Amino acid sequence: MSEPTIGVFEVEERTFPPAPEFVANANAGDRSLYDEADADYEAFWSRQARDLLSWHKDFDQVLEWQLPFAKWFIGGELNVSYNCLDRHVEAGRGDKVAFHWEGEPGEKIALTYAELLTEVKKFANVLKGLGLQKGDRVAVYMPMILELPIAMLACARIGVAHSVIFGGFSADAIIDRCDDATARLVITADAGYRRGAAAPLKSTVDEALGRGAASVEHVIVVDRCGTDPEMTTGRDLWWHDLMADASDDCPAEPMDAEQLLYLLYTSGTTAKPKGIMHTTGGYLTQVAFTHKYVFDIKPDTDVYWCAADIGWVTGHSYIVYGPLTNGVTSVMYEGTPDTPGKDRLWDIVERYGVTQLYTAPTAIRMFMRWGAQEPAKHDLTSLRVLGSVGEPINPEAWMWYHEHIGGSSRPIVDTWWQTETGGHMITPLPGVITTKPGSACGTIPGVFAELVDDAGNPVAVGGGYLTITRPWPGMLRGIWGDPDRYRDTYWSRFEGRYFAGDGAKLDEDGYLWLLGRVDDVMNVSGHRISTTEVESALVDHRAVAEAAVVGANDEITGQAIVGYVILRGEYEPSAALGDEIREHVGVKLGKIARPKTVIIVPDLPKTRSGKIMRRLLSDVANGRSLGDTTTLADPGVVAEIAERAQAGEED
Ligand code: WT7
Repeated sequence: MSEPTIGVFEVEERTFPPAPEFVANANAGDRSLYDEADADYEAFWSRQARDLLSWHKDFDQVLEWQLPFAKWFIGGELNVSYNCLDRHVEAGRGDKVAFHWEGEPGEKIALTYAELLTEVKKFANVLKGLGLQKGDRVAVYMPMILELPIAMLACARIGVAHSVIFGGFSADAIIDRCDDATARLVITADAGYRRGAAAPLKSTVDEALGRGAASVEHVIVVDRCGTDPEMTTGRDLWWHDLMADASDDCPAEPMDAEQLLYLLYTSGTTAKPKGIMHTTGGYLTQVAFTHKYVFDIKPDTDVYWCAADIGWVTGHSYIVYGPLTNGVTSVMYEGTPDTPGKDRLWDIVERYGVTQLYTAPTAIRMFMRWGAQEPAKHDLTSLRVLGSVGEPINPEAWMWYHEHIGGSSRPIVDTWWQTETGGHMITPLPGVITTKPGSACGTIPGVFAELVDDAGNPVAVGGGYLTITRPWPGMLRGIWGDPDRYRDTYWSRFEGRYFAGDGAKLDEDGYLWLLGRVDDVMNVSGHRISTTEVESALVDHRAVAEAAVVGANDEITGQAIVGYVILRGEYEPSAALGDEIREHVGVKLGKIARPKTVIIVPDLPKTRSGKIMRRLLSDVANGRSLGDTTTLADPGVVAEIAERAQAGEED
C-alpha cells in the first residue's frame, strides 16, 4: 500500500490552460456565463430553463426559497420524457441514435430516438395497465440494459417516481427501500452479465419479497440472460409478454415543475439510508446545462460516454436525463472494464469514436495498474473532453488520464457533486478554466460555495468545510418522509448554509481542492458507504459483540473498509470465522460494503465518555498493509491500540 493520497494536500504547480483551438469552438469560451450568473443567478437559471427545455406551460416565478425548502420554476409545466424524446423526434431527429448499447458478451444495439420513444410509450401503457398512477413509486433493480432507461422514462412520462436500486445491493436493501417508499412495483431482470457470467437479480428480489416489501404488488422481469428464474403466478410478469400487447399511443402528460421525478437512496451517518427526492423542472435544467457546458456537448457530432452504472446518481443525471435532453448520441455498456480483456473501454472508445469519456478516479487507478500498453493498443484521438467523478482525483491519476487517455492535450473536468445536488456543482468549464491536476477548480455558473471554519466563518485560504450558500435548481427537495432529517442533516451544522459533508482547501488562486468526507461516511470506489451501516451489519452476525468501522486509504479504491470486531465470549477467533463475518456484511448490504479487512481484537479503545476512538483505529489501519483478509488479534495491533489509547489520543 502506498502513502495515503486522500486528504494529503501539496501545492500543485502545474497548470493546464484550455487550448486555443478548443476555446475557439467551445460552448463556453469565455467568462460570460459566470458574469451573467453572478449578476443575477435567478435570471440566469430561468434563461437556461427556457433555452434548454421545452415547457408545456411557462413558469411565473423562478424561485421560492423558504430555507431550507426550495421550489423552482413555479407554475411551469413540462414532461421529462417529452424533453428527452418527443421533441427530438418532432424536430426530425428521430433516426438519430440515442444509445449505442453494448452487452458484455458483445451484442450491439443502436437504438434511435424514435425507437426509444416508442418503447417508452409502450412501457408507460404497461405501467398504466397495472394501475400505476401519477405520484406512485416504483422500484427498479436492473442491469445496464436498455430496458432500464426505458423504464425510467416511462415512469417520468406518467408522473410515477422511480427508485433505482443498484444491482449490487442485497435483498435487505431492496426491502428497506421498497418499505420506505411503499413501492407498488419492482422492475427487474433475470440476471445481468458481469465478468463473463450471469449475475442473478430476480432471485434477490424473490428473497426480498419473501421477507418483506409488503407494498409490492407485481414484479416485471426482463429476460436478459435466459436463466429461467422462478415466476410467481399472479405476481410476476414477463416484460416481453406485457410489451407484446402494449399500445404505443401515450401522449406525454404535462407535469408540475415540482412533480417528484425520482427517489434515490444514499447512505448517511446513520444506519438508515435516505431517500433523496428530485423533482422535474429544476433538476432537468441543471443536468441539461451542466451536461452541455461541462462536457462541451455538440449533439450533431459527438458520441458521449459515461461509463458509470445507472444505479448511482451519475447514471441518472449523465447517462439518462442530461444526454437525452440534449439530444446527443451516447454509448451504454453493460459489463466490467476487464472483460474480455483489460482494453475493453479503449476498444469501445475507438469503435464508436467516443468524444467525451466520464469515469471515476478508482477506475483510472485500476487502468494505471493494468498499464499504459492497454490504451496504447487503440486509437483514442476521437476523445475531446475527459471527466472524473465520485472522489478526489489524486494528481498522479489526473496526469496519467491526461497523458495516456487524453494524448496530453484534452481538458479534464473533475466534477464534484452529490446525489443530493442532482448535478455538477464544482468543476471547470473546459473552454474557460485553467485546470490544475487534482483540483475540481471552482463552482459552475449559478452555484455559490464557501469554505467555513468550525464556527461557520468563511475561510479565504486554507482548509475548511464545504458549504453551498444559495439554493440551486437541481438541489434535493428533501428526504422522503422525513423533513426534519433533511433539515438536520444538511442545514443545521452551519446556519443558512447547505453543508455537504466534505472538507476542502482553497489555494492562493482561489482553486478548491476536495479532501473527502469529514463525517462517518466512507468513499469506496466512488461509492458512499456509512460506517454505521457496516457496523450494524457486523454486529448482526451471531459471533460479533461489538464493532467499529473505519476507512483506510487504498491505492485503488480510495478508501477501503476495515472492521474491528470483538467476538462474543463463546467464540474463538479464527480466520475462517473472520471471513464468515466479512461475507455476512456482503450478504446483508451488498458486495461493495463488504469490509476488505476484519481485525478481531479483544478490546476497542474508548474515550472516557465511552466513544470509540475512531481516528486512532484509522491511524492503526493506515499504518500497516492490510489485505482482503481477516487479521487475528495480531499482538502488534493490540499493543499499538493500547499504547496510543494510553497516550491519551482522543477523537
Ligand atoms: C460524495 C457524494 C456525484 C456522483 C457520485 C458520488 C465525493 C464526488 C467528487 C469529486 C472529490 C467527490 C464527495 C461527495 N465526491 N465527486 N470530483 N472530488 N470528491 O455521489 O454517492 O452522492 O457521493 O462523493 O465526498 O460528498 P454520492
